[in-house]
Amino acid sequence: MRSFHALVAIAFISLIAFKPCLVHGNFYSDMSFNWGAKHSYNLSNGNDLNLVLDHVSGSGVQSHNTYLFGSIEMLIKLVPGNSAGTVTAFYLTSSGDYHDEMDFEFLGNSSGQPYTMHTNIFIQGKAEREQEFSFWFDPTADFHNYTIHWNPTAVVWYVDSIPIRVFRNYRSEGIGFPDRQGMKVYSSLWNGDNWATRGGLVKIDWTCAPFIAAFRKFRASACKWNGPLSVIQCSYPTVGNWWTSDVYKQLSSDQRGKLKWVRDNYMVYNYCTDHWRFNGKMAPECYKPQY
Ligand SMILES: *[C@@H]1O[C@H](CO)[C@@H](O)[C@H](O)[C@H]1NC(C)=O
Ligand SMILES: *[C@@H]1O[C@H](CO)[C@@H](O)[C@H](O)[C@H]1NC(C)=O
Ligand SMILES: *[C@@H]1O[C@H](CO)[C@@H](O)[C@H](O)[C@H]1NC(C)=O
Repeated sequence: MRSFHALVAIAFISLIAFKPCLVHGNFYSDMSFNWGAKHSYNLSNGNDLNLVLDHVSGSGVQSHNTYLFGSIEMLIKLVPGNSAGTVTAFYLTSSGDYHDEMDFEFLGNSSGQPYTMHTNIFIQGKAEREQEFSFWFDPTADFHNYTIHWNPTAVVWYVDSIPIRVFRNYRSEGIGFPDRQGMKVYSSLWNGDNWATRGGLVKIDWTCAPFIAAFRKFRASACKWNGPLSVIQCSYPTVGNWWTSDVYKQLSSDQRGKLKWVRDNYMVYNYCTDHWRFNGKMAPECYKPQY
């Protein structure tokens, strides 16, 4: 533990020595398919990527780089029309049985019915930390900015720069936090009809296929992780230098107001209030401030 913190401290100090640079991700050069490569279109020199789902397959990409901390942005336009049973995903995950993971998953719905924005976080292989939201805009009409901001003090999920969820690091109080395993970035479009729409009751209507989810301007302003904790190599954004400036800070009062607005008006599920499911034994982070 101590040596880990010492290493993080070294990483902090070494950033001062590194020249900051902004990492612009590109679907051609920074990601590759982990499945369904033929079920895709890539456009505008790697700035845009369309994933396709039909009765044969969906598809998915993963980043070449593995990161430990960073801000990972993706502009996404979700499957329009009758998207029931489709799941569009954007997430970060490490590998192995005790993996850590942070998710955005968008659960399609029948035409005219609202999408669900599903979020979750796995720590050491354990999840059951779902929070779900409805949208305050039509996520199929245009691209919107979904960002996972991950630093040693908190994970924040942003939608168009509005924080919708915060998971703070309370490791000092014995609560797990994803700060020890590097993660890759993934995007995918898959058939989730045994789960997604009303618990699997609504099946995909394949007459509406192919389904297309559009991704744009993947961007990682992040620290590369090369395996052991001792190798943390950062590339820093020159603007909004999160690593130095907001690593110890909480959200601004303006951001907190927005977070509250979303959660008061658009949150449709919260594992922290599902007493029935957990038999009243709620996860310890549920009793901690999360902003
Ligand atoms: C994009 O297209 C290029 C050229 O057709 C191909 O080599 C590459 O694998 C594709 N990558 C992605 C992630 O779309
Ligand atoms: C996306 O949102 C993040 C988090 O608020 C922000 O830092 C970033 O500048 C936004 N990117 C774009 C392209 O709007
Ligand atoms: C689909 O819409 C129905 C009706 O509004 C809603 O109850 C359900 O939660 C929606 N399903 C998803 C997966 O968003």
